[in-house]
Amino acid sequence: MLFQKASNIHVAWLILSQLLFFPLLPMVRTPKGQSIPPPARYGGRHTVTLIPGDGIGPELLNHVRELFRFSCVPVDFEVVNVNSSLTNEDDINNAITAIRRNGVALKGNIETNHTLPPSHKSRNNLLRTSLDLYANVMHCQSLPGVQTRHKNIDIIIIRENTEGEYSSLEHESVPGVVESLKIITRNNSLRIADYAFRLAREKGRRRVTAVHKANIMKLADGLFLQCCKEVASGYPDVAFDSMIVDNTTMQLVSKPHQFDVMVMPNLYGNVVSNVCAGLVGGPGLVPGANYGRDYAVFETATRNTGKSIAGRNIANPTAMLLASCLMLDHLKLHDYATMIRNAIHTTMNETQLHTADIGGQGTTSEVVQSIMRHIQSGGPLTTEL
Ligand SMILES: *[C@@H]1O[C@H](CO)[C@@H](O)[C@H](O)[C@H]1NC(C)=O
Ligand SMILES: *[C@@H]1O[C@H](CO)[C@@H](O)[C@H](O)[C@H]1NC(C)=O
Ligand SMILES: *[C@@H]1O[C@H](CO)[C@@H](O)[C@H](O)[C@H]1NC(C)=O
Ligand SMILES: *[C@@H]1O[C@H](CO)[C@@H](O)[C@H](O)[C@H]1NC(C)=O
Ligand SMILES: *[C@@H]1O[C@H](CO)[C@@H](O)[C@H](O)[C@H]1NC(C)=O
Repeated sequence: MLFQKASNIHVAWLILSQLLFFPLLPMVRTPKGQSIPPPARYGGRHTVTLIPGDGIGPELLNHVRELFRFSCVPVDFEVVNVNSSLTNEDDINNAITAIRRNGVALKGNIETNHTLPPSHKSRNNLLRTSLDLYANVMHCQSLPGVQTRHKNIDIIIIRENTEGEYSSLEHESVPGVVESLKIITRNNSLRIADYAFRLAREKGRRRVTAVHKANIMKLADGLFLQCCKEVASGYPDVAFDSMIVDNTTMQLVSKPHQFDVMVMPNLYGNVVSNVCAGLVGGPGLVPGANYGRDYAVFETATRNTGKSIAGRNIANPTAMLLASCLMLDHLKLHDYATMIRNAIHTTMNETQLHTADIGGQGTTSEVVQSIMRHIQSGGPLTTEL
């Protein structure tokens, strides 16, 4: 009798603990400390946080939803509005809570109001630091049908995403003298370098280049470079070299094919990834991903709001649609990702549909409709249905 009672209590505790702790553990850890995405919920569907943001974000994300519905992608979106029109931080905190719950998000860029005091942090930055999304990954690849000076570009840029010049630590203690702190830590530098080398190995890449300015910032960038060297010694199968950031931008525009995988601190990452996006056709084409140990957030690589072209049906939807494919890959819905990505590439190759940013006269919805036509003619998926 007593045993039975204890056993009941035990079972009750098990159920209760599942209920209590399950929401706090959205990710399952693999032995190597790498995260795998949250498992699908009831009925095999995933829930993803959707943050429309400002500018062209809302319309592009509506196209993603339209395309997912059309393709029967097993993803449900939880929409959280965050935009520049609100000055308190409730909205961004709601978004962060939603991402902690779902594990994955797709977002438009949120405009940062430059006229507000420095205490008002960029919401985008707040989101990345709160969720510790330490690795920003951008794969810059030439697309079929897009006219560019250099062909066959294939560069992976890995940008430290939580510290460096983005520490939001600025002050003007003496009028007319501003100090802006750049933070480089050994732990975070080792972490991002290891991410870069691990990804290079996983993708069968040959070389990692660290980008720095250690000739001037001897301590800060010196530490970053030193950490990269240390990590490199653990990956003898991947070559390592380094390049000063100013030379890097020059080399990129003149001889981009020398680069394979690149790793760098936050601000250089911002500049270099924009140069690379320009190389393959501009901000409308390249997707971006932010990964941490526990969460992943997908967006366009160059993080623009595109306010001047918002609501006119002329924005290039490619970057956001490709970001949604990266998200599907993260959720291990590879067949859906490949199906949509192939349809995007085929559509890009039909140059008469190009939007104005790449020299055409096509509209956003014409591009999306063409992608849907290609998905339809591609036939049904053979697996995962
Ligand atoms: C901004 O977000 C609020 C909700 O937080 C929403 O009601 C409003 O429509 C949004 N504004 C824009 C311009 O998207
Ligand atoms: C930025 O903030 C200022 C001060 O609160 C406000 O007057 C202005 O309208 C804001 N700008 C935008 C684009 O929201
Ligand atoms: C760096 O990481 C180690 C191991 O995880 C930890 O013990 C240490 O406190 C960290 N150092 C700093 C300055 O955060
Ligand atoms: C810039 O990089 C190129 C290619 O790696 C190298 O040959 C050259 O010496 C570098 N120039 C400077 C000034 O560092
Ligand atoms: C793009 O179109 C050209 C000619 O129309 C064709 O040769 C090529 O294979 C196409 N590329 C892709 C990726 O569809």
